[in-house]
Amino acid sequence: MKLKLLIVLSAVLLACNSTDDNKPGPVQGLGHSIKLRDAFKDDFYIGVALNTGQILEQDAVQTDLVALQFNSVTAENVMKSSQIHPSKDVYNFDTPDKLAALAEKHDMAFHGHTLVWHSQLSSFISSITDSTEMANTLKAHIEAVAGRYKGTTYSWDVVNEAVEWNGELRESVFLKAMGEDYLSFAFKTAAAVDPNADLYYNDYSMTGAQKRAGVIKMVKKIQASGAKIDGIGMQGHWSLEYPSIQEIETSILQYAALGLKVAITELDIDVLPNPDGISGADISQSAELQDEYNPYVNGLPEDIAQKQAKRYADIFALFLKHKDKIDRVTFWGVNDGNSWKNNFPVNGRTNYPLLFDRENLPKKAYDAVMALKQE
Ligand code: G3I
Repeated sequence: MKLKLLIVLSAVLLACNSTDDNKPGPVQGLGHSIKLRDAFKDDFYIGVALNTGQILEQDAVQTDLVALQFNSVTAENVMKSSQIHPSKDVYNFDTPDKLAALAEKHDMAFHGHTLVWHSQLSSFISSITDSTEMANTLKAHIEAVAGRYKGTTYSWDVVNEAVEWNGELRESVFLKAMGEDYLSFAFKTAAAVDPNADLYYNDYSMTGAQKRAGVIKMVKKIQASGAKIDGIGMQGHWSLEYPSIQEIETSILQYAALGLKVAITELDIDVLPNPDGISGADISQSAELQDEYNPYVNGLPEDIAQKQAKRYADIFALFLKHKDKIDRVTFWGVNDGNSWKNNFPVNGRTNYPLLFDRENLPKKAYDAVMALKQE
């Protein structure tokens, strides 16, 4: 019995003494004394998007990591209409219910993603052309989905990706059926269902000047209609070079000047070379897998890891500068291995966009972000 106790105590001591340099095992690696969610608790929520396996807590190390490091969660896919409401009277609430419970258990802000989006849209909605039928369908969808989580959702992406890169409204099935009234209709319906949730417009490439102007114009119209809109989600699918810190800052300031909260909703920093002309998150764009686009299959080189760490530090320093405007910063995935960036815009690559590596260990980028709070 005494021997057993001694072995356990030695193991605990060893774990406490480990550093990143002497390669801790996964559980020890999670053992940083201060975590992201604590370090930034007075600044903004630190969120993460979870896939189905992570919501179902299939991997104990990732389950611990999520609970320790983050204080906000978003469903990466399971609350999109094609998954949660695949046909008129069919709703799949099982996995989203588990996410709501997980958020509650760990005292996390539960962010709903997403109510009105042209992509991953249920096929029965994508075939609607009549304006009344579309309005009734959107109303039924929002009432059922936002209504189910009323009181547990802290915020919702009410409308996702409605503006094109040039600032024009996207010719989506919603716009075609209802005209631009669908935008204020969606926000009014969501506010009626859950008046206490913060309601967001969420999009990618939100730092481009033309798109930003189009989003601001659209939001002003939504506000003028009397609809409640509380925030702008800048997705944050960025790379090592683009957008510049100045472009990000200008965008945060201009969106906040609308009287709205700003959230960084889907942050990741792509480290791979991409085919010309592809950026953001337009999933209709893709390119063939070629070696030149996939240079780090055997590991992230030291210089790139450092470059990424510096980039994350610069970005978070900016977020801290504007913490009075920023409500939440959410990473789009738990670790590099399960990021969507391994398959976009080129399928089957080895990318490294997040703060945790494929073994769930904190990367240099993690340390660089945390260092901002330790100065
Ligand atoms: O569910 C099917 C599964 O049944 C099938 O076996 C498998 C085979 O490929 O595909 C599964 O669907 C995939 C789905 O993710 C769920 O894993 C789709 O192929 C895949 O395209 C889809 O990708 C998601 C993408 O949205 C689709 O729009 C990514 O995981 C998700 O990270 C990404 O998230 C979006 C945000 O919602 C909005 N902003 C942009 C962001 C990146 O595109």
